[in-house]
Parts: sequence; C-alpha cells; structure tokens
Amino acid sequence: MERTLSIIKPDGVRKNITGEIIRRFESAGLKIAAMKKIHMSKETAEGFYAVHKGKFFYDELTSFMSEGPVVVMVLEGENAIALNRKLMGATNFKEADPGTIRADFAESIQFNVVHGSDAPDTAEFEIGYFFKPEEIF
Ligand code: CMP
Repeated sequence: MERTLSIIKPDGVRKNITGEIIRRFESAGLKIAAMKKIHMSKETAEGFYAVHKGKFFYDELTSFMSEGPVVVMVLEGENAIALNRKLMGATNFKEADPGTIRADFAESIQFNVVHGSDAPDTAEFEIGYFFKPEEIF
C-alpha cells in the first residue's frame, strides 16, 4: 500500500469537474484516505512548491495555485504514486495520453487541472504539508 497527495487545482475546481476526477481515481482502485477543500495563501503555495523556487514559472504557478480554492486529497492504493500519475497524464497536456485527466481537461502546461506527488519522499512531504496523521483514514 502506498499513499500519494493529489490536488485538484483552481482551474479544475472552477470547471466543476471535482466529482469526475474523483470518480476516475476511485474507478482505478484508489481510495480517498483524506480530503478537504482549502484556499491557499500565496505563502502556503510557495512553501508547497519550494522545490521549484528560482524556476521561471514559480511566481505564476504560486499565484495561480492561490487564486481560488483547491481540493487536496490523500490517495491510497497499490502503486498509488505511479497510478495517480498515469491517470493524470504528462505535465504538458499536449504530451498527455488520450483519456487522461490532463489530456481531457488541461488548457496549458500551467493550467493543468491536477497535481500529484512524483516519488515516495515528495509524497511524504506533500501529505504532511496539508494533513495531520489523525486526519488520514
Ligand atoms: P505540477 O505537477 O503541479 O508541478 C509543477 C507545476 O508547475 C506543474 O504541474 C505546472 O502547473 C507548472 N508549470 C508551469 N510551467 C511549467 C513548465 N514549463 N514545466 C513544468 N511545470 C510547469
């Protein structure tokens, strides 16, 4: 069993596809171990994406992630990290496989609807960034 952090970004929430995205996770066998809707401050988004600090897209990314509410979830299952990334599709929606969340709903490399942890160490950091252990079931 593995856990990963998923975020439905402000563009996904605005498009009203939260249920559609969760349906895809559950249909693929992932369980929602924790979930909440939050509106991040710019500082919270900067801390979350600290690994990208200094990159040309960092300021725009953290502004975008704090411009409206998001849904953060802990997904649990076998190979949850890789499975979630497969369901999301490539970061650049133009390279995402047909039928993936980003191929179906993303509008640009920036406005790409969902985020998912990319490795066990980042998953641990990202889950702990938003959830206390007692909030995860
Ligand atoms: P995410 O998976 O959340 O990880 C970092 C985010 O930065 C990425 O999705 C995109 O929303 C955003 N981003 C914007 N421009 C780029 C870029 N050129 N390369 C990678 N990520 C980018």
